[in-house]
Amino acid sequence: MKEIRSGEVWPDSEGKPVNAHGGGVLAHEGTYYWYGEIKQGKTYLPDCNKSWGGTRVDVTGVSCYASKDLLEWKNLGNVLPAVTDDPKHDLHIGMVLERPKVIYNAATKKFVLWFHADSMDYAAAKCGVAVSDKPEGPFTYLGSFRPNAGKWPANAKEEDKKDPKAPLVRDHDAGQMARDLTVFVDEDGKGYLFTASEDNATMHISELTDDYLGLTGKYARVFPGRMMEAPAVFKREGKYYIIASGCTAWAPNAARSAVADSIWGPWRELGNPCQGEKAETTFQSQGTYVLPYKEGFVFLADRWNKDDLPDSRYVWLPIGFQGDKPVLQWKDGWKPE
Ligand code: DGJ
Repeated sequence: MKEIRSGEVWPDSEGKPVNAHGGGVLAHEGTYYWYGEIKQGKTYLPDCNKSWGGTRVDVTGVSCYASKDLLEWKNLGNVLPAVTDDPKHDLHIGMVLERPKVIYNAATKKFVLWFHADSMDYAAAKCGVAVSDKPEGPFTYLGSFRPNAGKWPANAKEEDKKDPKAPLVRDHDAGQMARDLTVFVDEDGKGYLFTASEDNATMHISELTDDYLGLTGKYARVFPGRMMEAPAVFKREGKYYIIASGCTAWAPNAARSAVADSIWGPWRELGNPCQGEKAETTFQSQGTYVLPYKEGFVFLADRWNKDDLPDSRYVWLPIGFQGDKPVLQWKDGWKPE
């Protein structure tokens, strides 16, 4: 590609459309590795779960593309292929594998992949974890779990722990729900998991263990009742930022942004970062990652096509700032320089 043209088909270095949806990009030793959902084959429309938009494809695996400049992407293959012979396996084609994100652990020298592992009806709501010695995989699948079983959030109030029907209380023993997710590594090497939890109503931020393969049990509830999905987290000038979406299945909605001095909060909402035409639909997209690039940041999003999920496109825009507020403006074409 000569420039980033959001919403168009993006050819890889062999001319085939890049297939890396709901993904994230890891910068490692001068190369950018883009991991994403391989969406392939028939889109199953009405019945798998109406409340979630009722649309899915068979799980195929996680793609990995490599680039030096964010323009030319070489397909390195399927780094976590689906399983075909065990219908109970998290990676079985009939399950849901979404929003894969890879982080590098400098101490263990391992690449750790976190993703949203779910059943076809999105009721399992778990995190899946896989690990590799190399960015290009293959990744070894370690399993899935519901976060923070038996633990209360560090910032839970006594009244939050009382109502047995409240998802936080209901799921206390078995573990908290985890759907859309991302992972973020701070400058001090500490890792954090952000999950759409409590039936998507409230985001949870969980501390990763030192090896990034699990959780320490320390977590916080943030944005209670705000129904946020698609979290993308970054740090700029000592402040933490999140850009997330609302919760409308595959249909686009207005993004939200927030800032905090500590990752544990309090988070201050800054409103919709998008400006101009189609700001109310995030330029017909839903965020998935924020990539620190050179001196700035790039917002990575998906323009989902729920009737033909493999034909979903990418929207990548540079992030500007007005004061401490992130700002996104549409660009037909731009070069990441
Ligand atoms: C919105 C989420 O952000 C996507 O990752 C996916 O789970 C869809 N919902 C499913 O409807």
